[in-house]
Amino acid sequence: MAQAIGVDIGGTGIKAGIVDLTHGTLDSDRVRVPTPTGASPADVLTTVREVLDTLGVADSSLPLGVAFPAIVKRGRTLSAANISKDWIGFEAERFFEDGLGRNITFVNDADAAGVAEVRHGAARDAQGLTILTTLGTGIGSAFLYDGTLVPNTELGHLDHNGESIERWTAYSAMERESLSWEEWSARLQVFYSRVEFLFSPDLFVVGGGVSKHPENFLPLLELNTPIVAAVHRNSSGIIGAASLAAD
Ligand code: BGC
Repeated sequence: MAQAIGVDIGGTGIKAGIVDLTHGTLDSDRVRVPTPTGASPADVLTTVREVLDTLGVADSSLPLGVAFPAIVKRGRTLSAANISKDWIGFEAERFFEDGLGRNITFVNDADAAGVAEVRHGAARDAQGLTILTTLGTGIGSAFLYDGTLVPNTELGHLDHNGESIERWTAYSAMERESLSWEEWSARLQVFYSRVEFLFSPDLFVVGGGVSKHPENFLPLLELNTPIVAAVHRNSSGIIGAASLAAD
């Protein structure tokens, strides 16, 4: 059976699992360890090692994909919205390859989630442009055109009153400001209407932890584009990173 390992580095947790690539499901438990405070590269590497140990795959030769919440271009991290600024312009893929003593594939977290949904989830067989957005600490985005990923789209950094719109619209804004579902949905409406006007997508897929409760906000949005919840939610980064590593 084709398998690969996926690791999803987030602002609050580092998660990993062994992925069944045929079905896009987890063949192991989902291991989760809190992200070290400050999330410096060295501390994150130590935690990723710990996670791989716990999963029992420290010496495995399976492909390993790592999803990360920043722009990732040719293995380099180029931004740091909700993580240590040390990651800006950092040779992340090489750093992890040296630190773990193996090949890895390093990708943006939302792009990984998009690949998981297009291969094994809500955007399977979708024609034209699918835009997946993750609503969590920040807002991540993935563009998939007829199933092909166009990476590093960063829609969470569209402008809103001089700030990145994710500060105002991510799920973390709802928690930080104790917004009701209605109040938060009004902000989502602004975000999705803008994205719909700019890109004329054929399908929106909503991921991130909050996609567990789609009934609380998806029906409140008025869009011309169908909008559905992601199937893989919190495991999509793991599944997508593993899939990309095995390509
Ligand atoms: C980052 C993106 C990331 C998203 C979700 C944003 O702040 O700029 O790269 O995909 O958060 O983690």
